[in-house]
Amino acid sequence: MPKKIVITAALPYANGPIHMGHMVEYIETDIFARFMKLIGEHAIFCCADDTHGTPIEIAAMKKGVLPEELISVMHKEHLRDFMDFQIRFDSYHSTNSKENKFFSDFIFNELDKKKLIYQKEVELTYCERCRRFLPDRYVKGKCPKCGADDQYGDVCERCNAAYSTVDLVEPFCAICGGTPAKRKSTHYFFKLSQCADQLKSWLDKNKNLQQEVKNYVLNWIKEGLKDWDITRDGPYFGFNIPGEKDKYYYVWLDAPVGYIASTENYCRNIMKGKERYEEYWKEGRIFHFMGKDIIYFHFLFWPAMLMNSGFALPEDIIVHGYLTVNGEKMSKSRGTFFTARDYLNVLDPQYLRFYYAANLSKTMSDINLDFNDLKNRTNNELVADLGNFAYRVLSFINKNFDSKLSDFDEKEAKPIMDDLKGKFEAIKNAYLRCNFREAVKLILEVGSIGNKHFQENKPWEMMKAGKESEKKAMQVSTFCANIAKNISILMKPILPQFSAELEKQLGIGEQIWEDLGFGLKDCRINEAKILIRKIEQEDIDKLSVKDAFSMLDLRVAKVLEAKEHPNSDKLLILQIDVGSDRRQLVAGLKQHYKPEELVGKKIVIIKNLKPAKLRGEVSAGMLLAGGDEKADIHRILEAKDAKPGTRVAVDGISSLPDEGITEIRLEDFLNVKIEVNEGKAVYKGQALKAGKDDITCALDRGNVR
Ligand code: MSP
Ligand code: ZN
Repeated sequence: MPKKIVITAALPYANGPIHMGHMVEYIETDIFARFMKLIGEHAIFCCADDTHGTPIEIAAMKKGVLPEELISVMHKEHLRDFMDFQIRFDSYHSTNSKENKFFSDFIFNELDKKKLIYQKEVELTYCERCRRFLPDRYVKGKCPKCGADDQYGDVCERCNAAYSTVDLVEPFCAICGGTPAKRKSTHYFFKLSQCADQLKSWLDKNKNLQQEVKNYVLNWIKEGLKDWDITRDGPYFGFNIPGEKDKYYYVWLDAPVGYIASTENYCRNIMKGKERYEEYWKEGRIFHFMGKDIIYFHFLFWPAMLMNSGFALPEDIIVHGYLTVNGEKMSKSRGTFFTARDYLNVLDPQYLRFYYAANLSKTMSDINLDFNDLKNRTNNELVADLGNFAYRVLSFINKNFDSKLSDFDEKEAKPIMDDLKGKFEAIKNAYLRCNFREAVKLILEVGSIGNKHFQENKPWEMMKAGKESEKKAMQVSTFCANIAKNISILMKPILPQFSAELEKQLGIGEQIWEDLGFGLKDCRINEAKILIRKIEQEDIDKLSVKDAFSMLDLRVAKVLEAKEHPNSDKLLILQIDVGSDRRQLVAGLKQHYKPEELVGKKIVIIKNLKPAKLRGEVSAGMLLAGGDEKADIHRILEAKDAKPGTRVAVDGISSLPDEGITEIRLEDFLNVKIEVNEGKAVYKGQALKAGKDDITCALDRGNVR
């Protein structure tokens, strides 16, 4: 009995939308899973939402909903995006499921039995005001090594030093801006250090893993593995550690367990118990796909967990690079951050599947998305070499032979058939090695051979030269129809919709890899239709840039308190209500307003600006004011009738959905030219509005800063 295969893609976080970067991985994995099924393997594709952790808990708290509600909305949204991209999961589950709780506890207990779990007291950063421990991303301060300002609690972006949150100099809470304290807590640790030899021998033995990845990992092992803190204190959204009340598994402990839980969901709930998870996770073959940012988790923690709790180890872990757009990291401020939905609203998902496939080759190199390149490759390769070829041949057969196929001279066709059969083998091997770029290249060559054969034989001219010649034309067309059939099989993992449509036009049932060949003879085909359309420039234009304004999260806020900054003659310190929370802002208005003049005012702030410290005081956001620089008059923008928290927007420019909001930098904002015109705030000639109300400013003209 051949072994069963489970194929996984990393579980996307449930706190944000699926974006074009994610799609690299889900398309890559989907192609591999479809290919394995096509060659007759018993393979399943399992994935899930990664639902636990601080960001989700905080996002839910800020929205005033339960984390469960938030993740259920995201689950539906994610699934819809994946469906529309023709990603075919056998199970798309959730890490917040009873199956996942079961396997997380099971593995934890197994590791514990093996004495790989121990407890230790740690010192952490705690915010009294928020009443929570602050993980890496929620505390900022000066780098303890180089002194760089405004660094997160884990690594310094300037000098790359790694440290822990308690080492930060002048730390501040990224949620409320308050100064956190140090607090002790007892945490559970996983003795990763003790697994070094086991891991090393697995890495040495496994010949499938990418060498470039192995080098990294072996180097980490050589430098010495640290034990892993697998505990988080409440409030936290996750699973309780067995026997503990307010301690939870760190999200990265139960996240990969989600692979097993999703398989169990498939076996129990979808297959109704006809299959068992052990067939995959103990006796089967395991393939993981993931991005280069999460190697540590998948090549160290995860295999160490598996090998010490009785599971099989992955046969391969395919690591891909990052998506860049126009050569740079996707960036909201540059207007190059595209969600899966942004794309789907404009273009056929098949183009992207083809484009990513044409660029994927089982390496960590980044993949660049350039919409003009996407258009050119689609139109010149997919449409011209494959789609048009099939359409041309099939419609010729419709018209000239009443949709009938004859046979053809096998002896005469042998050299081409041999050449093509060699390519089929090479394409299979390319798919097996996840070198989809190579597979696409070879399939295009098959298309070219077909095109050339049709073109050189000129069957349309043969039709004018008598009966014998007409028969020859029918044979040429029949042979080319066979090439089209083979293309539909070869392309199936990448373009299932294209292939299914082509099968329908050829009048053949669902094909599998074994059906590759030249046996389509003496039968009838159906009506030919265009298989795939060209991409138009106007569609590309729609996707190319988004307005920079759309990355701003502008909100109405009410000033609750205001006072002068003790160490500055320019700054005021405001306490404000932004609807979802209260926070502190620092504004350069001391020379323009008395503190008491501001209290009670409804102002407009950028809510998603990276928090910064100004002369020792945290500013979590920025107030907007109009300025007439020459006259040195500065007046705040006001939204007199709006409630705190109301979105400030401009007609015709879509704002970010709540879950799409991320921090922006001051430089990003400075690119957005908001002005005051006749007492109103405008952007590109459009009035800024909070609901129905205009945003006003006690100034005739000026620039907003
Ligand atoms: N939740 C974790 C994975 C847990 S797996 C047990 C996570 N989630 S993620 O949503 O941030 O990323 C999911 C996958 O998408 C990861 O493999 C990640 O590498 C990949 N990508 C996310 N952004 C990407 C790009 N911009 N480009 C390419 N892949 C990227 O990590
Ligand atoms: Zn706080």
